[in-house]
Amino acid sequence: MHVLPQPLSIADTALDTSTVKTLTLDGALEAHPGQFVMVWVPTLNEKPFSLVDDDPLTLTIAKVGPFSARLHELEVGDRLWVRGPLGKGFDIVGDRVLLGAGGYGVAPLAFLAGKTTEASRKVVVIGAASKDELFFQDRFVEAGCEVVLVTEDCSAGLGGLCTDAADALLRSEEFDMVYACGPEPMLDAVEEMCRRHGVPGQVSREAYMRCGMGVCGSCQRGGLLVCRDGPVFHVGPQS
Ligand SMILES: Cc1cc2nc3c(=O)[nH]c(=O)nc-3n(C[C@H](O)[C@H](O)[C@H](O)COP(=O)(O)OP(=O)(O)OC[C@H]3O[C@@H](n4cnc5c(N)ncnc54)[C@H](O)[C@@H]3O)c2cc1C
Ligand code: FES
Repeated sequence: MHVLPQPLSIADTALDTSTVKTLTLDGALEAHPGQFVMVWVPTLNEKPFSLVDDDPLTLTIAKVGPFSARLHELEVGDRLWVRGPLGKGFDIVGDRVLLGAGGYGVAPLAFLAGKTTEASRKVVVIGAASKDELFFQDRFVEAGCEVVLVTEDCSAGLGGLCTDAADALLRSEEFDMVYACGPEPMLDAVEEMCRRHGVPGQVSREAYMRCGMGVCGSCQRGGLLVCRDGPVFHVGPQS
């Protein structure tokens, strides 16, 4: 683990949607899916990002404010500073796994899907507001997943919410583990769904972070530190 920020150059960039960009860096880290790194842009800020891959280190950035907009401006050869990997990632268990991704929640789940080599059945439900905001389907197909697309405006796949489709799948077949990453209301719905269906789950949550390593307390949530005790938390019957 790099406790101090390490400078890395950008080796490749790819625009996934009009507001989401993937940066491939010229370095590697040994990390578990669900872990994150703190990305530092000197004189601007330092913020957490999940890993899409650890070798080469790959990050997917949604442009929502000043920091993410700055990361979108970076080009091949530009440098940024990274420390980590940090936090607790997903425990990889189960033969039949259901993954639920909303927005850039596909980032850690794409990394996870590639590592679930033992699972015989993998289904991922990817939700977005519209067709233009869906991305990474190919990564999940390559990892052996059946991909279910859901859009709120019905422009692709099923209409509705990602959690509606996940709920229907949980009603129709048995899964050993549910993994989810996405907006907070989606994760609350997944937590409730796991309890109701009696299926264990793991959700990756966000919080405002500063140190990223259990020191400053800014990511506290219900007595736990998201950066140290999470960002992945177990939910459902055994949690
Ligand atoms: C463990 C962890 C992993 C993360 N992984 C990723 C990742 O893989 N990719 C990624 O892009 N971000 C990720 N984030 C979020 C990221 O750290 C920043 O919070 C985000 O880039 C916003 O920073 P900003 O300065 O650009 O915008 P801010 O100024 O912080 O936010 C601008 C506005 O957008 C809103 N906002 C913030 N985030 C979102 C969002 N996701 N969707 C919609 N509105 C939002 C804010 O409430 C605010 O109103 C992660 C956060 C955590 C804690
Ligand atoms: S970010 Fe400092 S304790 Fe979690």
